[in-house]
This record gives sequence, structure tokens and C-alpha cells, in this order.
Amino acid sequence: MMSRTGDSAASFFDWSGAAPTVEARAPGRVNLIGEHTDYNDGLVLPAAITYDAHVLARAIQGRTVRLRSLTLGQEGTLDLDDLHPVAGELWLGYAGGILHGIKDAGHRLPGMDLLIWSEVPMGAGLSSSAAYEMALVKAFEEIGGFELPDMEAVRIAQRADWDFVGVQSGIMDQSISRLGKAGDALLLDCRSLEYRYVPMNVDAALIICHTGIPRELARSAYNERREECESAVRALQASEPEIRSLRDVTPEIWDRLKDTVPEPYRDRAEHVITENARVFEAADALERGDLASLAALFAASHESLRDLYQVSSPELDTLVEIAHEVDSLIAARLTGAGFGGCTVNLVPLERVEAFEERVLEEYPRRTGRTPTMYPAQTANGASARHI
Ligand code: GLA
Repeated sequence: MMSRTGDSAASFFDWSGAAPTVEARAPGRVNLIGEHTDYNDGLVLPAAITYDAHVLARAIQGRTVRLRSLTLGQEGTLDLDDLHPVAGELWLGYAGGILHGIKDAGHRLPGMDLLIWSEVPMGAGLSSSAAYEMALVKAFEEIGGFELPDMEAVRIAQRADWDFVGVQSGIMDQSISRLGKAGDALLLDCRSLEYRYVPMNVDAALIICHTGIPRELARSAYNERREECESAVRALQASEPEIRSLRDVTPEIWDRLKDTVPEPYRDRAEHVITENARVFEAADALERGDLASLAALFAASHESLRDLYQVSSPELDTLVEIAHEVDSLIAARLTGAGFGGCTVNLVPLERVEAFEERVLEEYPRRTGRTPTMYPAQTANGASARHI
């Protein structure tokens, strides 16, 4: 991507009238397993991938932040002394929310020119927005000469989602974009915020397949699932008041109390509770290089998301079906929020060609849609430097 950075530095100069002083980048992510668990204080196992959002920046006089997105072909400005949600302009909302959070945390930033572009496919469920947010945070730290603790940086970006964009997302996406490590997945406990790196020891290629249907982080559907989980917790609290989130519900408690939880909350909760257990097992299997166990765990996760959590789609189901037809050892499941978007696949190296051929042939035949494959490597988390 060097040449792109070079081109962008030239267009930065043309636009801003001087060269950028800071360059920052942050990766998108694929979640291996642990879906819709983060906002239930649960466990997730994402990996950062080699698709980045980029920012070039320099400080300018005054209190204005000027932004230009090469990806969207748009420009906008924000006033550092008057930051508020901007209706309909999500990309400005993310930036405004982060500037607001950084100010709240007691750091002062100058006016800036920011040039932005991204390789992370948008609307695919690969966290293009978290990559963008975390690249901005890194750029701001570098320009402002301060360093945020990792989890504070994550919280600032999450608050931007909540308060400036209106999606009540969990902390998975920003965490992995900040903390990712090439070669490893990240086992993150979204309650304690403890994490450990899990080496990806499987002899398998990581292939992401896009259904061709944009994943609407269907704000309303996503927030609705979140509320349904809260309703399940409230129903459980009638018997066990100390339950604070679905993370507190062990399989034993669940067996005893599940009949007290009305539908659809019962199904939603059952997904989350069983998914947390699968994350631990998958982390072990990944470390052992046990692809057969991963294939079984991914399949169980997908079914649970389809039947209990109801966030799959016929297209996502078809992609998973085709993967299993090629080889029962392929670990395949929908990844991210669902409602369209992508599947994640761990494909034995000698089956990669067969897998790709079969998807390209069968998926359009069965769905009338064109799939896109994103072969991915794991990547390091956000970084910035003076240039
Ligand atoms: C989106 C959200 C994450 C997480 C996933 C579902 O990616 O941003 O916080 O909730 O959906 O696992």
C-alpha cells in the first residue's frame, strides 16, 4: 500500500497546502467465534486482518478539523468547541464522537487536516467503522503527543458509536483493531477486559466470503437483540436477583431457570450462554491446531445464530452449506452482526482451490448473487508515526 500512501500524501498536499506530519492505520477484523456475546459481558475470539483504514494528518491553526475521505469522495468540517452528532453523516459522526471523548478525557487537540481512505470493505461486517475510528484515535494521540491506555481508547470509540452514531455496539471491534497481533487471534473477556493472544496453529487458509448483501448494522435490529437479552436478564433476576448479565448464567443455572424466561428472550439467551462455552473450546482447538473441533464449533455457532438468535440470512446459510459440501473439515460460519455480510472460513490448505471454485459456481446458481472472496492474513493492531 506504499504507493497508495504516496499518492495520498500528494493529494493531501494539494488539498491542505502542506505535507502531512502524521500517518496512522488500523485494521478491520474478522470474528472467529463469539457472536453477539460482547454486549452480554461474554467472550469473543476475533483476529485483525490485513485490510486497513488510513489517516494522514497535520495540525493547523484554529479550532476547525477538516476531513476529506478519498473512499467516500466527501469533505466535511468539525468545530472542536462545538462537537455534536451530525445527522446523516456517519463518517463525521465517528470523528466528532472520538474528538469529544478525547476532550472529555482531558486531552487538548489542535485544529487538524485529516485525509482518510480505507481498504476495509464497507458494509461487509468486517468492522470498517472500527478500523476508521481506531486509525483516527492513533492519529490524534500522535498529533496531541499523548498516549491513551488501550481500553480507554476502545471506550472512547465505543461511546462515539453510542452517542454520535446511534449503534449500541459492544467492545469487540475496536478492541481487536487496537490490540490485534499478526499470527494470533485475541481471546477477550468483555466483562473483565482481560485478554490473551491465541496462536492460530491450524494448517488452514482464512477466507472471508461476502454474500453480496450489505450488512445493515441494521441499527434497529441490532439494538433490538441487545434489548431482548436485557429482557432475558430481567426475567432471570426474578429468581436470582444477583444475575447482572447473561455472563452470570452458567449452564446449570440455565437448565434450572430457562422455563421462567418467555420467548423470544429464552432463545436469545440460550444462544449467548452456549456461545460463550464454544469460545473457550474454540480457543483451545485453535491453539492445538485441531481443525475438526473448530469445524464442529463453527457449525454449532452458525446454527445457533440462525435458529436461536435469528440473525442469519438464506445467503449466509447457503455459503456455509456449500463450504460443508466441499469438505466437512472446513470451519464455516457467519461472522459479525449478521443480517447479510460475510462468512468466515478456515479451509484446509489443500482444499482452498476446490472451495473457491465451488463457491464461485454454486453460490450464484443457488442465490442469484455474486460472492466476493477476501483471502486474509492476520494483522497487527493500530499504529501511527510521524512522517
Ligand atoms: C457488531 C458489533 C460488535 C458485536 C458484533 C456481533 O460487529 O459492533 O460489538 O456485537 O456485531 O458479535
